[in-house]
Amino acid sequence: MGKISEKLLTYWLAVPRQVRVFCLSLFTSCFFGYMIYLGIKRVLQFHTLNRPETILCGIVSLFILFALNHANNGKNTGGDDMKIVSTKDLPKRAVSQFFTTHWGSPVMVNSNGTFQCDELEGYAVLDENREITGLITFIINGTECEIISLDSIIENNGIGSALLKEVERASERERCEQVKLITTNDNVRAIGFYQKRGYVLAGLFVNAVEKARKIKPGIPFTADNGIPIRDEILLVKRLT
Ligand SMILES: CC(C)(COP(=O)(O)OP(=O)(O)OC[C@H]1O[C@@H](n2cnc3c(N)ncnc32)[C@H](O)[C@@H]1OP(=O)(O)O)[C@@H](O)C(=O)NCCC(=O)NCCS
Repeated sequence: MGKISEKLLTYWLAVPRQVRVFCLSLFTSCFFGYMIYLGIKRVLQFHTLNRPETILCGIVSLFILFALNHANNGKNTGGDDMKIVSTKDLPKRAVSQFFTTHWGSPVMVNSNGTFQCDELEGYAVLDENREITGLITFIINGTECEIISLDSIIENNGIGSALLKEVERASERERCEQVKLITTNDNVRAIGFYQKRGYVLAGLFVNAVEKARKIKPGIPFTADNGIPIRDEILLVKRLT
């Protein structure tokens, strides 16, 4: 019995996330719609299910479905209305330029290694002029995905969340068990951002940035918020 439910769960998880959310929303709204219908019927003392009542039940269900989907998009966390493209579909020059502008070079160094970000798999958000307004890069290694970079140029518009979701979906498709990333001690915004999205603190590498600076001397000593850039913090989110 346990094996059957495990198998069913595996098949279910293989269905694209959006389809899963849609099916669950449909089921929930039909259920509540029917409950509301039964309540109305009881109050009004109806005894039989005739055609107008069935139509009413259907309309209420559709209304709830619409409300649920709308609520999901409201905070712009899914990025359904955002233009997200794979970096494979962008000119490499544009991706390299993005990193050079924002990080000094496409090379990223952390305790896990040195990464040429413009050669990694990734997703980008484009504006109406096809300019990159957000970019995430990652590596999938076995059952683990590591996010190497995430940058949003227009903050608080859902870009960071949408890109993170896109990588989590890709990781689920590849049957990854977890997504991990490294950030630095000064980056209080990112540490909060990831924790609010299910990531937990999983490791602290004291003075790791000192070693990284030997490979990439351009890494500043102090962040814009005045905090010395010193340590690396590992954050992990389990997908299963
Ligand atoms: C961390 C970072 C990626 C977040 O990106 P972002 O685009 O601002 O992220 P979002 O807009 O999705 O979310 C930020 C906040 O805006 C809110 N938000 C999202 N859409 C919104 C909207 N339409 N209106 C108002 N607020 C909104 C989110 O709810 C979120 O708040 P919360 O974290 O309290 O829930 C971004 O700050 C960044 O690029 N930092 C510099 C680089 C960096 O540090 N990268 C991470 C290191 S790996």
